[in-house]
Amino acid sequence: MTQHNWTPDSWRAKTAKQQPVYSDAVRLQEAEARLARLPPLVFAGEARRLKRALANVAAGNAFLFQGGDCAESFAEFSANNIRDTFRVILQIAVVLTYGGATPVVKVGRMAGQFAKPRSDDSETRDGVTLPSYRGDIINGLDFTSEARQPDPERMISVYNQSAATLNLLRAFAQGGYADLHQVHRWNLGFVERSLQGERYQDLARRIGEALEFMDACGINGDTSAALRETDLFTSHEALLLPYEEALTRVDSTTGDWYDVSAHMLWIGDRTREPDGAHVEFLRGVKNPLGLKCGPSLATDDLLRLIDALNPDNEPGRLTLVTRMGADKVASCLPPLLRAVKQAGRSVVWCSDPMHGNTQMSATGYKTRDFNRVLSEARAFFDVCDAEGVWPGGIHLEMTGRDVTECTGGSSAVTELTLADRYDTHCDPRLNASQALEMAFLVADHLKTARQKRAKGGDAS
Ligand code: PEP
Ligand code: CO
Repeated sequence: MTQHNWTPDSWRAKTAKQQPVYSDAVRLQEAEARLARLPPLVFAGEARRLKRALANVAAGNAFLFQGGDCAESFAEFSANNIRDTFRVILQIAVVLTYGGATPVVKVGRMAGQFAKPRSDDSETRDGVTLPSYRGDIINGLDFTSEARQPDPERMISVYNQSAATLNLLRAFAQGGYADLHQVHRWNLGFVERSLQGERYQDLARRIGEALEFMDACGINGDTSAALRETDLFTSHEALLLPYEEALTRVDSTTGDWYDVSAHMLWIGDRTREPDGAHVEFLRGVKNPLGLKCGPSLATDDLLRLIDALNPDNEPGRLTLVTRMGADKVASCLPPLLRAVKQAGRSVVWCSDPMHGNTQMSATGYKTRDFNRVLSEARAFFDVCDAEGVWPGGIHLEMTGRDVTECTGGSSAVTELTLADRYDTHCDPRLNASQALEMAFLVADHLKTARQKRAKGGDAS
């Protein structure tokens, strides 16, 4: 059923923040029309499967891991990059599943995460002012007036890159690469020699033994698809509304509207006004949705947003991704948890410990201190525990590569070494060993939360 008074273009009557200004309206319309004729990137049935998996998270029986690039780019597009990010996601999921004794739902910030909200519309360097870079789906990173000109053709390139990325991800997930018997092989060369790599190898050895035992009992990849293949869902911020509208279609089996650009779409912290265009657009599609919740979000606005985005209180429909900053979680999060609980609304609570902890290094790099990231994640678990709410997930900006973008952690990136491999097109990402370190920490907290729940303290 279509939401009341909603059409795929009803957002156009509202204020849409963070949109580019295209100089040629005809070229924009042509690109939209071409996109609207292209096949869906995902199927509605898959989005429904993710929603059911997230309903299980909302009920406190599973955990969500969401992670990937801050911004995918044309320059970093390669099979090796996709494989390496996929590998780290598999590793993290194994650490969480085994260490936390909890099923893990895997969602990549991949195959469509290209549009970026910016603090300023323009950027000035040496007296020259140009439009800000808004992600490869809109303009180019180079500081030239040609590159910074928004170009609608880029939407088509993003569609094509997303299709190729998804194709490879599906092949990896279902074609044998993700077989649990390969668990040793997912360690990346440069991580292998680190403390995290050793911890991982130890865990992989234990899983290997368990698999041998199960094989002796007659359970193996031939008898159980769950050992042989996995599900990796895709997600991105639904920021660039003309792109999302063009990829919104009616599902022939249910008659419902789905945004077929990804399984899950989220609303960013800068575009979450209850009366704004982004909320208007997403309330009408049936995909599972995310909503970023920053420190300025008031409880009554959150309740209005939940009413707009999930009026039927459907479990798995809405994931609240909190990104408060390490110093603010303890004061900002409890009122939100309480208000949602009191209102009887079913949501997944997920922590994004990245976006509230961005800072400038003395050497001029946008960075994040790993200790602050860890500290926000820890505080999230503590606050959920104190409020009797299931800590449902973690959302990370990370890559499978050995980048030097966030400082700290056992990989020992310092302000002085940030310059070595600082490749991000937008925010600083955890490298593979920092991401694994995070996973081990989260697994410990998850195990405790799980044990408390099993002892009878219903935490959802
Ligand atoms: C992001 O997830 O890349 C992002 C911009 O986050 P937020 O909306 O929480 O700032
Ligand atoms: Co980001």
